[in-house]
Amino acid sequence: MKGIRITGQIPLDGEVRIQGSKNAALPVMAAALLNRGTTVLKGCPRISDVFLMEKILRGLGAGTRWQGDSLEICADQISSCEVERELGEKMRSSIVLLGSLLGRCREAVLPFPGGCVIGARPIDLHLSALKTLGAEFAEKDGRLYGRTSQMKGGTVFFRKSSVGATENAVLAAVCGEGTTVIRGCSKEPEVGWLCCFLNQAGARISGIGTSCLVIRGVPRLHDTVFSIPSDRITAGTYVCASAITRGKGILVKPPVKEMKAMLTAYEKIGGQYVYNSGKLFLCSQKASRPIHWLETQIYPGFPTDLQSIFLAVLACAQGNSQIKESIFEDRFKVVPQLQKMGAQIEVEEQIARIRGGKLRGTRVKAEELRGGAALVIAGLGAEGETYVENREFVERGYEDICRDLNCLGARVRKD
Ligand code: EPZ
Repeated sequence: MKGIRITGQIPLDGEVRIQGSKNAALPVMAAALLNRGTTVLKGCPRISDVFLMEKILRGLGAGTRWQGDSLEICADQISSCEVERELGEKMRSSIVLLGSLLGRCREAVLPFPGGCVIGARPIDLHLSALKTLGAEFAEKDGRLYGRTSQMKGGTVFFRKSSVGATENAVLAAVCGEGTTVIRGCSKEPEVGWLCCFLNQAGARISGIGTSCLVIRGVPRLHDTVFSIPSDRITAGTYVCASAITRGKGILVKPPVKEMKAMLTAYEKIGGQYVYNSGKLFLCSQKASRPIHWLETQIYPGFPTDLQSIFLAVLACAQGNSQIKESIFEDRFKVVPQLQKMGAQIEVEEQIARIRGGKLRGTRVKAEELRGGAALVIAGLGAEGETYVENREFVERGYEDICRDLNCLGARVRKD
């Protein structure tokens, strides 16, 4: 069994550099298909979801090559518009290839993305937006077939904020004919980074960071070298690591501007921080207060991806807290594993009520990426030793969580 072994209750006091952002890298890798040349992504995170997306791109005929932490993608020859089923089924976020394949090849075949542990994860918003821009779809044998004579400009209106659907609409529009207006866009930073990448490669997108994007179609994109931004969820995870151990810690190059909601919650529980010259200095000796009410929201609200991880921190607080999950319908899956560690959490519909207390180390199971990270963070705050099974879930989004936490002074190892 591949797992992670954690020794609990060591107050952290070290320094760690924050990796590149998984959720910025994946859509930018898909966008590289729109350039009939070479795209270089500096600071690309070496995580299994990126390696999987790389395999998918190679299966489509692109060439990929790592030079240190830069990933080079050569897409001058695309030989197929069909994402290999067993690869696409492993990663929901491969759905973002829909927009770039339609934009590049005017065709796309993907496995119909299923739901996952955190919810049904429908794609209705993706399909309705792409149909507005000139695509047609059919489903057969669990595959989604998309095609278009030419993606054309139009006005897309999202009734609900969706990161992936916004990214797909942008990817389909950048090389389409005419001008596209997308209203009700997701304002998550990763959407902004995708647009920055595309503009750097020759696209013409305005309104970045707002809920209304205007895209003037261009005939093609060109080569560019783009730096992947650092990962706000990884950085938030390590703020929680410092908090639960009542230690300190220094994060190097965190995207602090994108972490306001997380840092506000950190201050509410008693954490103190200073950001100076690219370093975030954390002081968590007093980070033991509960939070009466916290709700996950779309950006710039508290990110759903940090909900499970913050739940672990509140399970060790001195008092009672409540967290409402408002983005996904089933994102408290990690609670039974935290309860095995002694966490006193009751979930009723979308609200978790937490009675802060002590956690004790034991053997627990990761079932998905952020829940797995939450169990590792819980292990840091628990008495004794914790063993988290199914490490591969955590490795989907964290380059090397053991390496990083040990840099912060923890005692964590792969086992
Ligand atoms: C992205 O997923 C992220 N993944 C998720 O991070 C993140 O949790 C999520 O955005 C929300 O911020 C990547 O960027 C690769 P959505 P995405 O479409 O695009 C509903 C992680 O741990 N919806 O914004 O799939 C949907 O069910 C992952 O790194 C529809 O109803 O999220 C959800 O309730 C987990 N119809 C809500 O919208 C649709 O067509 C938000 O989903 C699409 C989505």
